[in-house]
Amino acid sequence: MKEMKQVRLLAILLVVVVATLQVEKASSHGDHPLSRIAIHRATFALDEPAYIQASPSVLGLRGQNTEWVKLEFGTENPNIDDWIGVFSPANFSASTCPEENPRVFPPFLCSAPIKFQYAIYSTPDYKDTGKGFLKLQLINQRSDFSFALFSGGLLNPKVVAVSNHVAFANPDAPVYPRIAQGKEWNEMTVTWTSGYGINDAEPFVEWGPRGETTRSPAVTLTFDRRSLCGAPARTVGWRDPGFIHTSFLKELWPNRQYTYKLGHRLFNGTYIWSQTHHFRASPYPGQNSLQRVVIFGDMGKDEADGSNEYNNFQPGSLNTTKQLIRDLKNIDIVFHIGDICYANGYLSQWDQFTAQIEPIASTVPYMIASGNHERDWPGTGSFYENMDSGGECGVLAENMFYVPTENRAKFWYKTDYGMFRFCIADTEHDWREGTEQYKFIEHCLASVDRQKQPWLIFLAHRVLGYSSDASYAVEGSFAEPMGRESLQKLWQKYKVDIGIYGHVHNYERTCPVYQNICTNEEKRHYKGSLNGTIHVAAGGAGASLSPFTSLQTKWSVFKDLDHGFVKLTAFDHSNLLFEYKKSRDGQVYDSFRISRDYRDILACTVDSCPSTTLAS
Ligand SMILES: [Fe+2]
Repeated sequence: MKEMKQVRLLAILLVVVVATLQVEKASSHGDHPLSRIAIHRATFALDEPAYIQASPSVLGLRGQNTEWVKLEFGTENPNIDDWIGVFSPANFSASTCPEENPRVFPPFLCSAPIKFQYAIYSTPDYKDTGKGFLKLQLINQRSDFSFALFSGGLLNPKVVAVSNHVAFANPDAPVYPRIAQGKEWNEMTVTWTSGYGINDAEPFVEWGPRGETTRSPAVTLTFDRRSLCGAPARTVGWRDPGFIHTSFLKELWPNRQYTYKLGHRLFNGTYIWSQTHHFRASPYPGQNSLQRVVIFGDMGKDEADGSNEYNNFQPGSLNTTKQLIRDLKNIDIVFHIGDICYANGYLSQWDQFTAQIEPIASTVPYMIASGNHERDWPGTGSFYENMDSGGECGVLAENMFYVPTENRAKFWYKTDYGMFRFCIADTEHDWREGTEQYKFIEHCLASVDRQKQPWLIFLAHRVLGYSSDASYAVEGSFAEPMGRESLQKLWQKYKVDIGIYGHVHNYERTCPVYQNICTNEEKRHYKGSLNGTIHVAAGGAGASLSPFTSLQTKWSVFKDLDHGFVKLTAFDHSNLLFEYKKSRDGQVYDSFRISRDYRDILACTVDSCPSTTLAS
């Protein structure tokens, strides 16, 4: 009876859910798979003989935060487009519905499913037998789960059965640690998610080099629906984010190995612990040691169980993740330069993304930049007035990941890693001359001592440099309009070696270039001064590929329409290796080297030195 009531509530509530989605859906790089479900057309059609059963009902009994659930289901009227939606929390309730939405009337269904799959996925004869099974992977994300069987496809869904509830043994457990460089070179930050607020427990990290441990307190952030800017983030995509903790591990010894685990001390004296993780502290600025950096954009997430991705939303994401995990011993730091998980306002997807990258982000600093899918929303100060963030307007990215910015709402920052200086721009805020961000970029580029840190890298989400992506060729600018017009004199003056961007879902490398003209004819091994900056598009880490124009430009050296990422290896102050690897096999498909001495950086080239005077 209780289940009947639930189903009825579910069905009635379904009426409204995605009315807003239809109007306010993300517009670029494809729609979120969840936004394709026309839940606003759903009707109540409880079919008594229909059933869906989930097992086991308690997950994570050995402390794991990911587990597979088996579903068995059946109906007397099977159809090829029947599907199963996963809901969390398991109990849908009108009491959490937003007050704002003139198109709808209560009671509503307030939550989109967190994932879905077709009933025939593992049971091709479901259409004939009316019986099927399915295995789905669930992650621990602070609440319980239920599963609903729908007929009528995604466009005219009818609920025919709802399952028993399933939950992790401790839904509040501290999960998905991600480390990031702090504001100082000898500080590492550890950020994680839990269900414990500051009134429930004290969060901390227990850490140290081998044989010694200490405890550092963590700060706690959270936000509510009103912090977000629009639908679906503020409506059907909303899901309680729990609590996000960050601890600051200070005065680290350069390159030393540390172990750590996350802890919560409950007020009754009980401790809740995560598993033990480890990381290597960063080298000090200028340190001469082997330093390996992976950079990519637009990775997104993908489901290992095959759910959600009927339109190949991010087909390369799992491959990229797999390659990075496989080669993790040879990676020291990762930059994911925007378009992080394409949650597009479906908040549950951020948990799923942090679970996907956990082996990487818990071990090496995972530094993010802000992209259109994190930040853009009309009327909220983003440089572009589109709806690509699905109403998140930057709040999820700013809270879920630590970034050493002055102000996390303005996502530009610098970070040093040994012989590298990285200047990370925020293309979703104005960068043009005279702006606050322009001043930051100039200061970041100008304030590095190139004798200590010869490798100067500029990173941004949208292409501010050069790209042959078809969308930019149509604009005629071969980059974001006003990108290089505003910044190329800074790159040239401060002798930036490489600019790397995402946003375009492909790989491309240019010659060293200034004002559209190659400044060096070499393609594989640059010796001495580059005389310009090499620009790279590395936005092919996961999202659906975007084509190149057929126009040939003089500055384009190598193009590849495939999923991949780039890796920089600094062997010392004079030798840098750049590699482009495909996500499908981890092999190198393009590379170049730079060999030079400090005096080559000091040498003057066009527009890179102040005019000299004859006075002596
Ligand atoms: Fe983008």
